[in-house]
Amino acid sequence: MKIAFIVGTRPEIIKMSPLIDEVKKRGVNYILIHTGQHYDQEMSQQFFTDLELPQPDYNIGVGSTTHGKQTAVMLEGIEKILLKETPDIILVEGDTNAVMAGAIASSKLHLPLGHVEAGLRSFDKTMPEEINRMIADVCSDLYFVPTEESAINLIFEGVNPHDIFITGNTVVDACMRNLKIAEKNSNIISRLDLDGDILTLTIHRAENVDDPERLKNITDALLELDEVTIIFPVHPRTRKNLIKYGLYESLEKANHIQMINPVGYLDFLILLSHSKLVMTDSGGIQEEAITLNLPCLTLRYNTERPETVTAGGNIMVGTDKKVIVDNARRIIGDPDVHLEMSESINPYGNGETSQKIADIISKSYNDGKLIINPSDRFISHDGWYLQKIIENINVSEFEKYNSNSLIRIVFDEDKAEYPYPLLSLKNKTIIVDRFKL
Ligand code: UD1
Ligand code: UDP
Repeated sequence: MKIAFIVGTRPEIIKMSPLIDEVKKRGVNYILIHTGQHYDQEMSQQFFTDLELPQPDYNIGVGSTTHGKQTAVMLEGIEKILLKETPDIILVEGDTNAVMAGAIASSKLHLPLGHVEAGLRSFDKTMPEEINRMIADVCSDLYFVPTEESAINLIFEGVNPHDIFITGNTVVDACMRNLKIAEKNSNIISRLDLDGDILTLTIHRAENVDDPERLKNITDALLELDEVTIIFPVHPRTRKNLIKYGLYESLEKANHIQMINPVGYLDFLILLSHSKLVMTDSGGIQEEAITLNLPCLTLRYNTERPETVTAGGNIMVGTDKKVIVDNARRIIGDPDVHLEMSESINPYGNGETSQKIADIISKSYNDGKLIINPSDRFISHDGWYLQKIIENINVSEFEKYNSNSLIRIVFDEDKAEYPYPLLSLKNKTIIVDRFKL
């Protein structure tokens, strides 16, 4: 079996790394394709060093340009590589333009695609990431979703539940494996001369940093929070816009704010683990915060990680200055609030996601599920039906006894449930697809 990993940006390199390690450990043949969407040393190569990753076999070197051109160049580059390498499966993770390009290239070549971190939805189509993840999910064959909630999102978009695997998120594996290494190797706390409470901050989302009003509200909030040391590793997009909108200098002059270049993964983990609070618009950092028992304020109006909010570890504060400041002060100033948020249960698994994904890929390969050919069986869709189940029967049994039926979703009273094979259907309602063979 040959696996092709596609990465393009900082979070993809970090989150794919435990899976690359796992595949390497199992002696499976693989290639690593970097699209070059991120290219600065501190946005790309630093992570290969920190995570001891092999250098990419290919780097398309797309760089920064408009969305359309960037996607087109990556698509063309990936297609060429896939035609030459003919991998048995392609893996992408997350929601960047690199992910979308990888997904389209694979599906157009009828090569099987596994989407790691599938099924996340912010329900906000103005975010480029939402479109990317929806397109990736349309193109995918195997869906590695972090939680039941993301599985249900996919089911409502018509994905076959048998292609969905609830695995947790590889971010937990990356976090847990590297924190110990970071504790030994990172000197960021002494390098930045830190003592006392710190607040780590990152922002880079287009909807925040490309909007001068929102960016100003956030910078005003940071300037007001002068009772805490704020460490702000500045994403290149953010640096460019802070300068463009005349906001950089006031932040740089503030004694309680340290603006630094983006840091490596080991340093960033240490910053998080020494922080009292993180404020961010990042997706991955919302997940890392709950993994590290760190309260998180999300500077956005929606999140595709709602599990972190439901669990109690993350609060959405948008970009209103007062809401940001009040919430930050409440968490830093009230030990009970801080403790309650820190103790939230991590919904993203226990660090075994990459093993689970590697097992599923091996099984799918051995079962011949990774060969995509047009079907030569006559099948027609009979319709979708609502059915109340009285008897004591589980999902697998129901589908075995009704071989032309596929359970899409289960409702226990009004609560939607993913149709786990062993889930009891007694006194539940199901939506079933029936086929005529
Ligand atoms: C991209 C992803 C976003 C992800 C983020 C992770 C898309 C649409 N966006 O956003 O989902 O959360 O990566 O960090 O795929 N730049 C540099 N050096 C670099 C890379 C970028 O200076 O190495 C600057 C360039 O000015 C560029 C800007 O940052 O125009 C934005 O880069 P781009 O890759 O287009 O989007 P990100 O904001 O990084
Ligand atoms: N990160 C890092 N150094 C930094 C800032 C972030 O290593 O200076 C890591 C962070 O630990 C997380 C990932 O980058 O794993 C998140 O990337 P980003 O916020 O750029 O993208 P998103 O997750 O929003 O797609």
